[in-house]
Amino acid sequence: MPIIEVPAPGWRRERSALKTVFVLNGPNLNALGKREPGIYGGKTLADIADECRQAGSKLGLEIDFRQSNHEGDLVDWIHEAGEKAAGIVINAGAYTHTSVALRDAIKGVDALAIEVHISNVHAREEFRHHSYMAPVCVGVICGFGVASYELAFDAIVPLLEKRAAKAA
Ligand code: DQA
Repeated sequence: MPIIEVPAPGWRRERSALKTVFVLNGPNLNALGKREPGIYGGKTLADIADECRQAGSKLGLEIDFRQSNHEGDLVDWIHEAGEKAAGIVINAGAYTHTSVALRDAIKGVDALAIEVHISNVHAREEFRHHSYMAPVCVGVICGFGVASYELAFDAIVPLLEKRAAKAA
């Protein structure tokens, strides 16, 4: 009897896209652990990536964790998330306060985006109080240390479920 190759059914691909969350990190976050530990704590980005993957898997999320010091990489990854992911959790670092390009990228994709910060940007210098991205994100979580990322996962799950239910 010949073996017939059956392609993965469409629903399986859709289900995995539904669960994928891109966690995007901007400039200088690769230096976490040694960068201003009084503000950002002692954990490295690798520690945070591990914690995110663990927390995400408990919630049934596939976490795609990335960091770049280059604005264009972040723009490209937001576009990619628009194709491959249901959600974006983004700590754009200083680009939060400067980048119209990141705002436009988020506005242009279907994935739900949540802005996160480790520090409470509103308790810091004035220039950190403004975010170009916040108005095009579903919400902003800041000031909870690295737990800000996990809080974003908790927040995004019911939103993704609601969206999926609406689309069904
Ligand atoms: C940050 C806050 C930004 O203002 C700063 O430029 C960062 C880190 C945070 O996670 O607290 O690089 O996004």
